[in-house]
Amino acid sequence: MIVNSWNEWDPLREVVVGSADNACFEPIEPGNRPTVRNAPAGSPFPTGPKPRAAIERANEELAGLAALLESRGITVRRPTPHDFAAPVRTPDFEVANQYCAVCPRDVMITIGHEIIEATMSRRARYFEFRPYRELVYEYWNADPDVVWTTAPKPSMDDGMYREEFWEWPLAERHRRMHSFEFCVSQDQVVFDAADISRFGRDLIVQESMTTNRTGISWLKRHLEPRGFRVHPVHFPLDHFPSHIDCTFVPLRPGLVLTNPERPLLDRDARLFLDNDWQLVDAPQPTSGNDEMPEYCQSSKWLSMNVLSLSPTTVVCEEQEKPLQDLLSKLDFEVLTVPFRNVFEYGGSLHCATWDIHREGGQEDYFPTLTRP
Ligand code: NVA
Repeated sequence: MIVNSWNEWDPLREVVVGSADNACFEPIEPGNRPTVRNAPAGSPFPTGPKPRAAIERANEELAGLAALLESRGITVRRPTPHDFAAPVRTPDFEVANQYCAVCPRDVMITIGHEIIEATMSRRARYFEFRPYRELVYEYWNADPDVVWTTAPKPSMDDGMYREEFWEWPLAERHRRMHSFEFCVSQDQVVFDAADISRFGRDLIVQESMTTNRTGISWLKRHLEPRGFRVHPVHFPLDHFPSHIDCTFVPLRPGLVLTNPERPLLDRDARLFLDNDWQLVDAPQPTSGNDEMPEYCQSSKWLSMNVLSLSPTTVVCEEQEKPLQDLLSKLDFEVLTVPFRNVFEYGGSLHCATWDIHREGGQEDYFPTLTRP
């Protein structure tokens, strides 16, 4: 069996590591308003291809991660080249360029023996499955047990977005924090794969700017007949939620690394607490939000975007010493790689990977859900 991955921590055997080849700046569009960090309001965000030097720096660190994984006996695969500078035009929208293949986790997810291509939520990422299609065909041809599903593509027309979201002042966001309404309306199925976290039979899915309730309903209806349980989760203090892996990161059965600034809604936390899971806050990252790279749209919490190689071994960014110390105290073997030049592409070690094969099968880590 080639495609087999049920959770975020079982021993990793085969993985895809992203690539910065041909990466472009993310365009301004209804679902995304990228800004230059620490620049006066209204400063223009660059457009078109990223500079060659920025691509080379990121590629060097991605290659470093790939080499580390290979040195641990893990098979590493890479995306195929894609022309991200090409514009996209569909009957519903046009966008001047696409983005990149640095973060396969955002687009692709393995759930057991099934590969799902997410709908995606932003126009520039509409065709981001393309760099992974050759691999998907290879796995699908090689392994008759592989199920391959492409989720329904939303139109991404103007009506799908709620553009006023970007103008809400902080007080307004605070007032609305329990409505979980962001820049994408609820009319169509929308989800990015990175809003899902896998716990064997159970999957949690964050309602966010990139995943709506209709997207979660689609996942439920698709996965529950296949023996999974899908649980929506919410982090009301995150006013710009997107992708769960800087917020709630399971490390082994019974242990989740949590973001101290983004607590899980009490009613969602019950599932974990009732089943004796420990929620351990990550320490403050070594860089403040102001010190993140100028074109990086993600927060300082990329610090906790770690990649588990097994329930006892975790890869952590080289400079994140406080987190490394915490993980060591929790009895993990901690491996480190430099990865800061990848940050401007929106992710760190977990985002930049997509696991194809981890040992193990579908376990139930939440017995209170099945106990009579
Ligand atoms: N939206 C998240 C990053 C997820 C990889 C954050 O900025 O913390």
